[in-house]
Amino acid sequence: MVTGGAGFIGSNFIHDMFGDPSFDGRIVNVDKLTYAGNLENLAGIDEKFGGRRYFFEKADIQDYGAVKAILGRYDIDTVVHFAAESHVDRSIHGPAEFILANIMGTFNLLECVREAWRDRGDVLFHHVSTDEVYGSLDDGGYFFETTPYDPKSPYSASKASSDHLVRAYHHTYGLPVTLSNYSNNYGPYQFPEKLIPLMILNMKNGKPLPVYGDGKNVRDWIYVSDHNRALRLIVTGGQTGETYNIGGENEWENIRLIHALCEKMAEATGEDAGRFRGLITYVKDRAGHDRRYAINCDKLKNDLGWRRVVDFDEGLARTVRWYLDNETWLNHILDGSYQNWIHLNYGGR
Ligand code: NAD
Ligand code: DAU
Repeated sequence: MVTGGAGFIGSNFIHDMFGDPSFDGRIVNVDKLTYAGNLENLAGIDEKFGGRRYFFEKADIQDYGAVKAILGRYDIDTVVHFAAESHVDRSIHGPAEFILANIMGTFNLLECVREAWRDRGDVLFHHVSTDEVYGSLDDGGYFFETTPYDPKSPYSASKASSDHLVRAYHHTYGLPVTLSNYSNNYGPYQFPEKLIPLMILNMKNGKPLPVYGDGKNVRDWIYVSDHNRALRLIVTGGQTGETYNIGGENEWENIRLIHALCEKMAEATGEDAGRFRGLITYVKDRAGHDRRYAINCDKLKNDLGWRRVVDFDEGLARTVRWYLDNETWLNHILDGSYQNWIHLNYGGR
């Protein structure tokens, strides 16, 4: 079971799993289809695997009856739990939904699997989390798996809370769990509210590129398929009860990244990079804006042999190309029609 499989990382994960010939399992995608859930992210999956190896269940992870019924209907041995409210700005303007989805939703899932898996040992609950639970760094240092939690936004506080619940269920009830805390992913199917797709969209439409504060906040970027390979290694070979950091070892100040994106956009469109750079606009800072995130992922590399494959130059070029080539996907988000999921092939299920 994948929760949140219609979102950015979850949908890429499903594509990557079915794209790997060595994977012969089944995936049940449980998603409530919030504004961030988009079944168009899964184009081709239902047609190829639907009803045999791929199943979509529209459900809220907070709904005990619905989750219990899904666990009963399929023979689930692994849960990869992505579903969450994920955008920091939204958590500042409206924290309630984050508390409900991220904390209560995770709690409900844990209760459901605890019951459903009472007599089973061959099972795993993998909890997907963020480096933001560790707080904010200054110029030096890194987040390790042992770094004390110090979340600063309603989003990161809700994710920290869910992490604690997952560990408590392992400690108290012996639920087999693994956790991953990771840095900023980028790539196809990311909702255009996050930095990279928003900048591409605005450049495309000649709109201002809003830079929060002084633009010197630092994030560690990882291409989504590199992240998902790490996730799969953890789920298949990680130690039960353990947490693994996943990072790109790729720190960028926001403003430098935006300049790099202007160059990539110019290369892809043949236009002058100066035209895009001219759109850069400094705006009021995000409240409580974390200064720097930087992940140490030696544990993942040493214990599970993970390595990053996509370098940033190539990943950014691929991402810009993807957004330029997938205008229909983007337009359906802009006109809201991506949420008319009933009209897609999934309507009957
Ligand atoms: P996203 O916002 O793109 O997708 C979230 C998905 O969860 C959507 O499909 C949405 O419909 C679904 N969802 C939300 N609430 C739900 C509920 N109550 N019941 C069922 N489904 C629900 O998120 P994303 O960027 O793909 O992130 C996935 C996970 O990874 C999240 O847990 C997030 O905290 C974590 N994470 C993301 C990043 C990143 O860079 N995007 C980095 C670190 C950690
Ligand atoms: O580090 C992992 C986290 O990365 C995940 O847990 C979150 O789910 C994910 O949304 C992401 O959080 P960020 O806040 O780092 O991502 P975002 O894309 O919103 O912003 C990246 C940086 O860019 C951040 O410093 C804020 C800045 N920013 C963002 C936007 C949307 C701008 O300067 N302008 C913008 O318009």
